[in-house]
Amino acid sequence: MQAMNSSQTRKVLLVAGTRPEVIKMAALYQQLGEPDAKLDSRLCITAQHRDMIRPLMSLFGMVSDYDLDIMSPNQTLNSIVAKVSQRFDEVLADYKPDWVLVQGDTTTAMSAAIASFNRGSKIGHVEAGLRTPDIFNPFPEEMNRRVIDTISSAMFAPTTRSEAELLREGYDSDRVLVTGNTVVDALHIASEIPFTFDDPELARISDSDEFMVLVTAHRRESFDGGINRICEAIQTIARRWGSGINFVLPVHPNPNVKETVHSMLGSEPNVYLSTPIDYLPFINLMKRADLILTDSGGVQEEASTFGAPILVMREVTERMESIDAGLAKLVGTDTELIVDESCKAIEGGRKKAGLGDIANPYGDGKAAERILEFISSHD
Ligand code: UD1
Ligand code: UDP
Repeated sequence: MQAMNSSQTRKVLLVAGTRPEVIKMAALYQQLGEPDAKLDSRLCITAQHRDMIRPLMSLFGMVSDYDLDIMSPNQTLNSIVAKVSQRFDEVLADYKPDWVLVQGDTTTAMSAAIASFNRGSKIGHVEAGLRTPDIFNPFPEEMNRRVIDTISSAMFAPTTRSEAELLREGYDSDRVLVTGNTVVDALHIASEIPFTFDDPELARISDSDEFMVLVTAHRRESFDGGINRICEAIQTIARRWGSGINFVLPVHPNPNVKETVHSMLGSEPNVYLSTPIDYLPFINLMKRADLILTDSGGVQEEASTFGAPILVMREVTERMESIDAGLAKLVGTDTELIVDESCKAIEGGRKKAGLGDIANPYGDGKAAERILEFISSHD
């Protein structure tokens, strides 16, 4: 990033650690690196995810100034907290940022926010005000996001619904700004990049006329049975519809997900289990998909652009906007409900709203611009 510090220039430190944080920080990073940027900035990667962020950093041209290199296999939440707190403290001591921008609700974001608070840096929370009524669900994200908002000096709410939540909780309206979600900014950046499928199986599925279902599942609160029930549902649907339908399921590398998914679905001929798919092919699969089954927050937001019905496989969601707009349905991890709702969509055939017909309820692609304007004009 640029090094144009003068005594008056505000210093901003971006923090990211997992796949969705890198995607949702990309537009901010790129705008902070523009020659006329008014802020001095650095990027700190915790590497809570090591493998999954590598291709993203390269796609978005992101280079870290600090890399905490914390990931270990099957890591515990407290090991992430401990490593981030200790190693990020050294970054704060070195750079002495005025503002630290954290994104979302991961353990990286929460730990970096607490460390920043303790060092007296102001925190800007990108994607603030998302809430469910249950502190344990999603776990641990609901706690993380509430803690981050409590200690933030600026809360960048993606939608008016998240803004209303923050105001209802009593936060000062001067500290809350509705910006849109930076996930839509990233989609706009990606739509400019030329693309073809390198993976021959994805190319084959994408080119075929068959009904395609894209699936992602990774939530910690689903480890105790939810992932099994999701896999049972996919197995039932895949067998019922046979070769006329293709499932694509990029398997999250978390061992709690990977082992179950491979053992339950590994021998279904019409279920393609792949390693995590790079962002560009993944968003092109969302464009191509006739039905999307997901427990991912980011996928729920992005898929709203592409017109396929979305079934959200979680008990509660903090992203009600697409549900209220009729773009998504909340089905939990109940096998029967997932099967029934999927079969309804499959019976409806391959018809979906055309691209561009739908206004994404989560943002308009200008969130990063609004966030940086706010930071530039607030001490
Ligand atoms: C984390 C976030 C979750 C977010 C998700 C996005 C927390 C508590 N959880 O969950 O909010 O929705 O990322 O995907 O912050 N692994 C690899 N390579 C990688 C990434 C992960 O091997 O690039 C494996 C490792 O064994 C790692 C494990 O997955 O220990 C779990 O990673 P972790 O970040 O702790 O949890 P996620 O389930 O990915
Ligand atoms: N994604 C991706 N490849 C995949 C699955 C997801 O690039 O195989 C992207 C997706 O486009 C979205 C983000 O990863 O932007 C969502 O991340 P994830 O589901 O890991 O986390 P969540 O959004 O649930 O926190």
